[in-house]
Amino acid sequence: MSGAGSLVSVEGVGKRYRNGVWGVRDVTFRLPAGRVTGLVGPNGAGKSTTLNLLGGLIRPTTGTVEMVSANGRVGWCPQVDLIDWSLTVAENVLLGGRLLGLGRKEARSSTAAVLEVTGLSACAERNAETLSGGQLRRMQIARALIGDPAVLILDEPTSGLDPEGTDVLFGELRARARHGAVVLVSSHDLHSVESFADDILLLEAGTVVAHSPVQEFLARGEEVVGVEVDLDAPPDGALRALLAGQLVELSIDGSHVAGRFKPGTTTAGFLRMVLSAAEVADFKQRTASLRDVYLARSPGAGPSGREAS
Ligand SMILES: Nc1ncnc2c1ncn2[C@@H]1O[C@H](COP(=O)(O)OP(=O)(O)O)[C@@H](O)[C@H]1O
Ligand SMILES: [Mg+2]
Repeated sequence: MSGAGSLVSVEGVGKRYRNGVWGVRDVTFRLPAGRVTGLVGPNGAGKSTTLNLLGGLIRPTTGTVEMVSANGRVGWCPQVDLIDWSLTVAENVLLGGRLLGLGRKEARSSTAAVLEVTGLSACAERNAETLSGGQLRRMQIARALIGDPAVLILDEPTSGLDPEGTDVLFGELRARARHGAVVLVSSHDLHSVESFADDILLLEAGTVVAHSPVQEFLARGEEVVGVEVDLDAPPDGALRALLAGQLVELSIDGSHVAGRFKPGTTTAGFLRMVLSAAEVADFKQRTASLRDVYLARSPGAGPSGREAS
């Protein structure tokens, strides 16, 4: 598949739902072929609204959405599975290919290929209703991948997937981007986004707050560091309290302590505190991960208390 010329462009797009809620407001971005873009943001930020606009499921209230697929095909994985329960796994996927306009022969061979990629070959002839939740998710992903679309839009495809399935999927998305596809994938799995995405598109409260290469986004968070410390012995109650005073996401596993600095904590201050109370066998600074930067990006950032997605 040559994806040269594929493009997704969103210009000043707003979506107002019937109840008056704006799902997104004035969203503008452009996605070139050849890159995986990770769409991230808290529940209710507007990720699904954006992807549903791209999928053609809903129409923008303002602005324009432009999608150009070099091979005329768009693969779309909705957040909630669309399944025909009366069909087998292979038939569900094949149907997706037929709806995309694939001929019978290509639809068959492509079905076999995407079932292989999603690890469903052994379930091909089973009825959809006999699958587990994660297997159903894989089937939905297979339906998005069938026919090698030059544009791929996936809404939280890895929710419910096991770690192996997640890695295989992101690896596949990356390979397809390298062959020229435009790939936009929303996910709360920031570790995978950091490992596999080229760019990050961060939405908050219906607007784009960041759109940059992942590495640039991470560089913003240089001041955000965590620690990993090996103590000579498991910390006692008093030291635990001190650690909890300086670290969030504190994990204590025997004498191994890890966490992220609270605002205002410095490495030097933290070390002084620990050394005054315990022997330190080993110490490592944790550089900022995408998750760290994401969580530190604005004071009080976190679950917005809006409806869950
Ligand atoms: N069909 C709908 N009708 C009314 N409001 C909606 C609808 N779908 C989403 N919303 C609202 O739009 C906002 C964005 O939602 P959504 O795009 O689903 O966010 P995300 O996928 O990032 O969690 C939320 O405030 C949500 O409640
Ligand atoms: Mg959503």
